Amino acid sequence: MEGLFSDVLMHDETLFIDESLFDYKYVPEKMPERNNEIKEIAESIKPLFSERRGSNLFIYGRPGIGKTASIKFVFNELKQTSSEVTPIHINCWSNQSTHAIALELARKSGLIFPPKGVPADLIIKNAIKKLKEKKGLIICFDEADRVNELSIIYQLLKELDNTNFILISNNNEWKAYIEPRLLSRLNLKNLEFKDYNEEQMNEILSRRAGMALRQGVINKELINLIAGKSKGDVRKGMALIIESARLAERDASRKILKKYVENAIINLKDDAPTGLSNEEKRVLKAIKDNEGEISGRVYADYLNNEGELTLRSFRRYIKIIERMGLITIEGTGEGFHGKSRRLWIKK
Ligand SMILES: Nc1ncnc2c1ncn2[C@@H]1O[C@H](COP(=O)(O)OP(=O)(O)OP(=O)(O)O)[C@@H](O)[C@H]1O
Ligand SMILES: [Mg+2]
Repeated sequence: MEGLFSDVLMHDETLFIDESLFDYKYVPEKMPERNNEIKEIAESIKPLFSERRGSNLFIYGRPGIGKTASIKFVFNELKQTSSEVTPIHINCWSNQSTHAIALELARKSGLIFPPKGVPADLIIKNAIKKLKEKKGLIICFDEADRVNELSIIYQLLKELDNTNFILISNNNEWKAYIEPRLLSRLNLKNLEFKDYNEEQMNEILSRRAGMALRQGVINKELINLIAGKSKGDVRKGMALIIESARLAERDASRKILKKYVENAIINLKDDAPTGLSNEEKRVLKAIKDNEGEISGRVYADYLNNEGELTLRSFRRYIKIIERMGLITIEGTGEGFHGKSRRLWIKK
């Protein structure tokens, strides 16, 4: 009898054609849902070709909705079209200090410095000298709300002509944290990335699943289920698809069944946005579990749940999470030096 085991995956088989297509670094070849935003970014860059400054952009929108992917899409196209205007993308999540940003800028302008020992201002000075050789330059500070000290942007702005800046954040209110002097000099134009609707989520996830998984591994109904559970975050949706496929593989199933998706949803149950580190998630959870409490109590609860940050670092994390627009901090005027704060999750 034939086909008796056709639903079973043999030991060396896999459900994936190319798992790397689910990698966060992968830049999609098309993203029609962001055509307008992509065009607007391109328009802001065009004046650089005639040695004029274009407009600086402030891009904002929730996590996992294609901000970074759109920038990389435009930058890739730019690199393929011309070498006159050089795009530089800096991930501020992994480069938060002035020194780390300086090193990254230097590296991307073609200079190499040892990771330690050379002071940041010397690195920046040399990087600027090198960057001045370019006819046009566009520097994107992605996840800019992570940058500890924005004065590096001010310096670049002052010393580099023919340079555009793009700042990206999850938090549309983050601009309020920028020093007025820098803000007025940047003269940022807002570009909002709106949430995807359910239909768009379905389409994006189907497209990616269609490329990365073997034909017939996942059906439309399950994609719909996943899209509905992703809360508009494509990264979350993709993580759910991978997890479902892995669970199916573990069971030697040729198909993703509903039970795998349901288990994947349980396994990845985490209400925090995808762009947070584990420690940030832990701090955020403590705030969520103790909403409206004073910060000292939140910290105590955090410690009870295996948190390891010192109080000082904990406070720094709270500031970061506030800058990301996830919580509100309310002064109480009580406690030691009146420094006690109440913490609220932003809805
Ligand atoms: N319209 C789209 N078409 C195809 N893939 C998309 C689309 N939008 C987002 N994605 C994919 O979703 C994932 C998350 O997108 P991206 O990294 O650009 O999010 P983001 O808005 O920068 O989020 P964060 O604020 O957390 O940095 C990426 O893998 C990206 O390729
Ligand atoms: Mg991003």
